Amino acid sequence: QELQMNLEQIEKGGYDHFMLKEIFEQPNAIKDTYRGRMLVKEGIIKMAGVDDNIEKFLNANRVIIVACGTSWHAGLVAEYIFEDLARIPVEVEYASEFRYRNPVITNKDVVIAISQSGETADTLAAIKLAKANGAFVFGVCNVVGSSIARETHAGAYTHAGPEIGVASTKAFTTQITLLTLIALKLAKVKGEISNTNYRYHLQELELIPEKVQKALESDEHIKAVASIYKDARNCLYLGRGYNFPVALEGALKLKEISYIHAEGYPAAEMKHGPIALIDENMPIVVIATKKGHYEKVVSNIEEIKARQGKIIGIVTEGDTNVKKLADHVIEVPETLESLSPLLTTIPLQLLSYHIAVMLGKNVDQPRNLAKSVTVE
Ligand code: G6P
Repeated sequence: QELQMNLEQIEKGGYDHFMLKEIFEQPNAIKDTYRGRMLVKEGIIKMAGVDDNIEKFLNANRVIIVACGTSWHAGLVAEYIFEDLARIPVEVEYASEFRYRNPVITNKDVVIAISQSGETADTLAAIKLAKANGAFVFGVCNVVGSSIARETHAGAYTHAGPEIGVASTKAFTTQITLLTLIALKLAKVKGEISNTNYRYHLQELELIPEKVQKALESDEHIKAVASIYKDARNCLYLGRGYNFPVALEGALKLKEISYIHAEGYPAAEMKHGPIALIDENMPIVVIATKKGHYEKVVSNIEEIKARQGKIIGIVTEGDTNVKKLADHVIEVPETLESLSPLLTTIPLQLLSYHIAVMLGKNVDQPRNLAKSVTVE
C-alpha cells in the first residue's frame, strides 16, 4: 500500500494531481507535437500521413470532423482554422450524432477523427460508417497503436505523452497544434495563404510553448480568483470566433471536476437567452483578447456589468479597457488570433482545477466520468 502511494507520488512528479502536472506539461507537449514536423527556417511542414495523401485533402469537397467531449471542442477550433486559412469547408459533428443520423458521406469527403485515447466507441463507429461510404479517414490520436489509430486510413499522433487526469488538458492543446499544422500545410499547398503570412504563422506557432509558460505564471493569481468564486452554483463562459470553442471547453472543465453548472456561449448569443440569468451572483468568464471582435466583446462586458454580473476577463497582456470594467482580469501573452486558443485555454484549465481542489473534489477521477468511453 505504502509502496503504491510512493509510486503514485513519483508519477505525479511533485504535483498534487495528474491534472495539474499535465497542465504544466503543455509547453513541452506542444513542442513535441510540432517537433520534426515544422521546420521554421525552411518554411516546411511535413507529416507523412498528410504528405502521402495530399491529393485526397486537395480534392476533398469538404472535411467532416468527428469527435466527442474535449476532442470535439478541438474540432471546432480546427473548423475556424481550416476555413479561415485553407478555405476548405468543414463540418464538426459529435460522433454519436453522426453515426445515427444517416449522414450524407461520399468518396469526395475527408473525415478527420479526433480522439485522445483512440478508443471512444462512438468515434470508432463513426469512422467505420465513413469508411463504408467511401470517405478517406484521417485520425488524430494521442495513444499510439490505439483502435482509432489502427482503423483510420492515415493519421498523425499528437505526441502529448500519457494523459492520466480524466479531464483532458494537454491532449486538447496538442490536438489544436496538430490540426493547425495540417491547416497551414493545406493552405500553403493550395496557395490560399501568402508566403509572408505562412512564415509568420510558423514563427508564431514556434513561440507558443514559451507563451504558454508565461500564461502558467498566473497560477497564483488564478488561485486567488478561484477562491472568490468557488461557491458559485452557476457560471457562464463567453467567447467569440476562435475563442467560442474555448468558452465551451472552459465550461466543460468546470462541470467535469467541480460539479458546478457551467455553460459556454458565443458572446453575441448572450442576448438571446443567457442574459436573463445574469445577476450579482453570476460569475461570467469572458475571453476578450485583443484580436478578434475585441470591441464587440467589450460591449458584451458592459451589458453584463449593467446587470451586476461578476466578470472574469481573459485579456491580452497590458490590456486596459477590460481591466476598467471587469472584476478580475487574467492576462495571456499576445499572439495571432488563430493561435490564441492555445493560450486562452490555460487560465480556464487552472481556474477549474483550483476551484475543484478547494471544494475537495476528486480532480483526477471525477465522479461518473471515465478517461475513455468504450461503451455507447
Ligand atoms: C471522455 C473523457 C473526456 C474526453 C472524451 C473523448 O468523456 O472523459 O476527457 O474528451 O471522452 O475522449 P477521446 O479519448 O476520444 O478524446
